[in-house]
Amino acid sequence: MSELSFLLPRSEMPRQWYNLAADLPTPPLPPLTPDGKPVGPEMLAPVFPMNIIEQEVSTKQLIDIPEEVQEILARWRPTPLRRARALEKHLKTPAKIYYKDESVSPAGSHKPNTAVPQAWYNKQFGIKNLVTETGAGQWGSALAFACSQVGLGCKVFMVRTSYDSKPLRKMFMHVWGAECVPSPSRETKAGRDVLARDPDCPGSLGVAISEAVEQAVSDKSGKTRYSLGSVLNHVLLHQTVIGLEARKQLALAGVKKPDVVIGCAGGGSNFAGISFPFVQDKIHGAKIDIIPVEPAACPTLTRGPFVYDFGDVAGMTPLLAMFSLGHQFMPPAIHAGGLRYHGMAPLVSQAAVEGLVTPRAYGQMKCYESALLWARTEGPVPAPETSHAIACAIEEAVKAREEGREKTILFCYSGHGLLDLAGYEKFLSGELSDYSLPEADLCKALEPVKAFPKAPRNKSGKW
Ligand SMILES: Cc1ncc(COP(=O)(O)O)c(C=O)c1O
Repeated sequence: MSELSFLLPRSEMPRQWYNLAADLPTPPLPPLTPDGKPVGPEMLAPVFPMNIIEQEVSTKQLIDIPEEVQEILARWRPTPLRRARALEKHLKTPAKIYYKDESVSPAGSHKPNTAVPQAWYNKQFGIKNLVTETGAGQWGSALAFACSQVGLGCKVFMVRTSYDSKPLRKMFMHVWGAECVPSPSRETKAGRDVLARDPDCPGSLGVAISEAVEQAVSDKSGKTRYSLGSVLNHVLLHQTVIGLEARKQLALAGVKKPDVVIGCAGGGSNFAGISFPFVQDKIHGAKIDIIPVEPAACPTLTRGPFVYDFGDVAGMTPLLAMFSLGHQFMPPAIHAGGLRYHGMAPLVSQAAVEGLVTPRAYGQMKCYESALLWARTEGPVPAPETSHAIACAIEEAVKAREEGREKTILFCYSGHGLLDLAGYEKFLSGELSDYSLPEADLCKALEPVKAFPKAPRNKSGKW
């Protein structure tokens, strides 16, 4: 009988994070102000504490994980690497499908991997409160949990469409003592401006980020900072515990290297977490297909250009060099709320420019069908975001069957869907459909970006 779970003892938990910025063939472009000047650490100081800014700009390959952070992470880490044998049998595939189960964290996703260190560094710096945004509610829950552990106040601007469709996520945040407000709200100028343009706006991560940053920087006590759950270098850094553990666990399973590594991609953090250690192996010659999967309704990597753009709708963040659909792009209200982001992490974007990762986009119907197949074979109910990675793993396993090839597939099971059942209900009752973004809408959303400094063309010369 083949083994299904590959567990590491606590002594094997990573003690350092891996920083891809040290190994990329071309380093990522620096953040800029709209008039093209580099953004120095001091300009970020009202938003983030200096110890986190140092990580954000670091090019050191390995960065120590503080002992106290390890103590908290060890409550659920190392997370299991599991083999999806029942799904393999159902698909009659010669492929071996492994998944890193990040749903076992207290908040039910990979997000606490960065929430805990971010809360801890802020506490060390003397900060009392954190403000953030959340899409599906996973990040807000994770930060609420982390703040409760280190003793910080926490306020979350939650994208309205998720706030309305996922009331249990909001309660989750309340249990950990956080405040949760629907976004766009009337509490900030950014929110009021959006509501003036569209009183029924479903919200987006870009709007919620503007609200959270505005509220953090306008606290006169200087004791409030902003915290981001994805996109930035330090967030991706913290998530690399996923891939570092997976590498050791695959060795336990007798796998020298995976052939395919997959993660769903919203801002890019769980994808970076599972894949960056393998991107490092690929840079050093390993043959691995590394696939970020995004929704066809918000196709940042597959249809967006590589440009300098704001990370938020109101333009409060620096300009980041990334694939983007335009910072004012309002994604349709698909159920994978955590994937509704107009941009992509600069480090993931740079890896895509280098051809180290090859993105795909799927419609939500295919993803829900894959999630149901998963639940009816393997058992657990995945988050709608995670279903994008599952759909890709299934596609790759079917391809292996057709080619008669044994291959090893690894994907990140980024979160459970136990608080996302309303979306499943809609799918099962036939109320969902696919949405493909019209080219004209994309061109319109990219119009404001033309005024910004240009990012150099990528290898394909496409942009
Ligand atoms: C379960 C889950 N997976 C994936 C994501 C996407 O975020 P990221 O691309 O930063 O991993 C989210 C975001 O909320 C999420 O909740």
